[in-house]
Amino acid sequence: MAGGRRPAGLALGWGCCLLLCCAAASRLEISMPAVMEVEVGDTARIECNFYIPENASYTYIDWFYVDRSNRQVRLYHVTASGVLEDDTEYKKRLSLGEDKALSISAVTVQDARTFVCQVGAGSYGVGENSTELSVYKVPKAPEIEPSSGGISVHSPDIPEIAKCVSKNSFPPPNITWHKNGERLRAQENDVTVQSTLTRESSGLYTVSSTLYAPVTRQDRHSSYHCTVHYWLRGQSHALESRRVKVNIFYPAEHLKLQVVPSSAPVKEGDNVTLVCESDGNPQPVFSFFKKKLDEWQDLSSLTEPQSGVLNLHNVDKSNSGTYKCQSLDLDDMSQIEEAVDLVVNYIEGVDVKMEPSSTLLEGQSVTLSCDAHSPVDLTYQWSNEQGEKLKEGNQLFLSNLTFETSNTFSCRVMAPSVPGLEQSKKVSVAVEGKPRIVAISSPLYVRQDEVINLTCKAIAFPRPTVQWSINGTAHEYMDNQHIASNLTVRVSHDLLQAGAMCRVINKLGVSEKHIQLVDQKSTAESQGVIIVAIIVAILVVAVLGAVIYFLHKKGKILCGRAGKQDITKPEARKDKIVVEVKSDKVSEEAGLLQGANGERRAAADQSEKYIDLRN
Ligand SMILES: *[C@@H]1O[C@H](CO)[C@@H](O)[C@H](O)[C@H]1NC(C)=O
Ligand SMILES: *[C@@H]1O[C@H](CO)[C@@H](O)[C@H](O)[C@H]1NC(C)=O
Ligand SMILES: *[C@@H]1O[C@H](CO)[C@@H](O)[C@H](O)[C@H]1NC(C)=O
Ligand SMILES: *[C@@H]1O[C@H](CO)[C@@H](O)[C@H](O)[C@H]1NC(C)=O
Ligand SMILES: *[C@@H]1O[C@H](CO)[C@@H](O)[C@H](O)[C@H]1NC(C)=O
Ligand SMILES: *[C@@H]1O[C@H](CO)[C@@H](O)[C@H](O)[C@H]1NC(C)=O
Ligand SMILES: *[C@@H]1O[C@H](CO)[C@@H](O)[C@H](O)[C@H]1NC(C)=O
Ligand SMILES: *[C@@H]1O[C@H](CO)[C@@H](O)[C@H](O)[C@H]1NC(C)=O
Repeated sequence: MAGGRRPAGLALGWGCCLLLCCAAASRLEISMPAVMEVEVGDTARIECNFYIPENASYTYIDWFYVDRSNRQVRLYHVTASGVLEDDTEYKKRLSLGEDKALSISAVTVQDARTFVCQVGAGSYGVGENSTELSVYKVPKAPEIEPSSGGISVHSPDIPEIAKCVSKNSFPPPNITWHKNGERLRAQENDVTVQSTLTRESSGLYTVSSTLYAPVTRQDRHSSYHCTVHYWLRGQSHALESRRVKVNIFYPAEHLKLQVVPSSAPVKEGDNVTLVCESDGNPQPVFSFFKKKLDEWQDLSSLTEPQSGVLNLHNVDKSNSGTYKCQSLDLDDMSQIEEAVDLVVNYIEGVDVKMEPSSTLLEGQSVTLSCDAHSPVDLTYQWSNEQGEKLKEGNQLFLSNLTFETSNTFSCRVMAPSVPGLEQSKKVSVAVEGKPRIVAISSPLYVRQDEVINLTCKAIAFPRPTVQWSINGTAHEYMDNQHIASNLTVRVSHDLLQAGAMCRVINKLGVSEKHIQLVDQKSTAESQGVIIVAIIVAILVVAVLGAVIYFLHKKGKILCGRAGKQDITKPEARKDKIVVEVKSDKVSEEAGLLQGANGERRAAADQSEKYIDLRN
């Protein structure tokens, strides 16, 4: 930065002589810049250019500085024979160029003084000129600190907004203040700026400036900054600080009271929060109240102190009502209120009625009616114990009741306008009636002395008892609504003769069925007889055939087809009978009621033993 011009030096000085000789006659001219600006710490290089006519040489060059008492203190004495450096405070920081220019390194603010160059040239006389060294230090961006704490808009004094400091610059700069980018001028609108200037031991200056200005509620959004201004080479420069906001205290003007969550209507069981917010800063003290018979009941014990939040857990209809939030500004003791209505939707008194309400018997009908109370519209839905939906609407009509209809029915009450609000109630429909025997193991093909099970299955309500007409070991078990009894007995002659009787009894009546036992041995014997009979019959037919053939051959009688048909007819009838028996014996209980004798039989025979007696 030092020395804006290219060093001309003596060589150039000589070069110039031809141009200057004619005009300047025999004057010794020294050319030096009047002012030179150098930044603190840099090197200043001051040139001394001169012209001696007729190629003559200088006899000496002296460098001086001018001290405070305006005396010239010599730094260098240069002659043709050599350079003499004087012992001064500058000694360690000086150097001389080829062109005899003076260099001062590590410039400080104390170096801001005048330096003189004196040239002697014998008969041409002595000439001198001087340069004023001007030292500067560019300031760093200023540091700003907003007022800590907060500033009340009701503050009686003009409050301090912020402080700005620009450190170590030279010469001392100016600081200006700005709000939202606009210059704030002292003495306008009660704005005051206090500045202090400190000279550091280094000679550099630190400027600090404090802004005082009134604030309004709108200033909560304002940003402030300061700018440091300095001159450099005749030009004005500026550096800005960061922008800061100040915490402005202002009373609330409005309150907002909200029910959270606000997305859906409130229903019983919900957790509800009432949130009260103010537009003041800081947040004021909040209190909650609930209206009770034209009186406001203080709920502050239910809230976190001053939080502005009222939590209501697991609300019910008693939580419905008008709530009020009140704010108290501790600065000016002003109060604001805001109210909100809380509606807790509910369903209560869910009840199912049966018509008739007396004991239901098989074959009767019943109407189930579901009823409930709610401030909102309700819908009803019926389902059975298995969760199958049966019907929409608050009535369910069940006709022609049977034991199998007995079930638990559920009425679900819903409020379509309040998602999630529902209740349900269950009712048991018990159908009573006299027992019905639904399956029995008859006929049963057995052998004498064999141990077998007699099985009898019935349905009834109230639960019936099963009795057997004969002695044996009985086992009862339940299967859904059915009761089944197995009687383990040994087959006696009497039993084969009489069979057994199953009797099912409850308070509403008695049902009984007979079990027929068939002796397998006698059946086999009779089958044997039949086989013998058939063989005999075939033999008879064969003989008969032979006789007829014989007679035919003799030509005594005519050949007749009718005779053959008569013989085959009984067989056809037998087939038909078997088919009829099969079709009668389809039964769900076939497996359960399997015969006890464990003998293998044809499928047709096995099913023959059971007859489904339901319906
Ligand atoms: C000093 O040098 C400047 C610049 O060359 C010149 O304008 C001025 O006249 C000189 N002053 C003297 C006293 O020689
Ligand atoms: C000065 O010296 C140069 C060469 O060094 C020469 O050319 C010139 O003529 C001389 N001028 C005078 C006036 O003597
Ligand atoms: C500082 O302010 C003074 C007075 O307003 C003014 O004369 C001077 O030029 C300013 N300096 C800078 C560096 O702006
Ligand atoms: C209500 O809050 C309680 C405890 O904070 C929690 O156990 C319960 O599940 C919440 N109920 C609902 C419906 O969110
Ligand atoms: C009642 O049920 C029985 C047996 O299922 C049936 O025969 C009868 O027709 C039914 N009566 C009515 C009115 O549905
Ligand atoms: C059943 O056993 C009892 C005693 O064990 C007896 O008195 C009764 O006669 C027996 N009944 C039949 C039908 O065997
Ligand atoms: C009852 O007897 C039948 C026929 O013997 C048999 O299949 C069934 O398993 C028995 N029931 C029980 C529960 O033992
Ligand atoms: C007969 O019934 C009894 C009990 O119900 C059972 O333990 C037994 O296995 C049954 N016997 C046969 C042959 O099914």
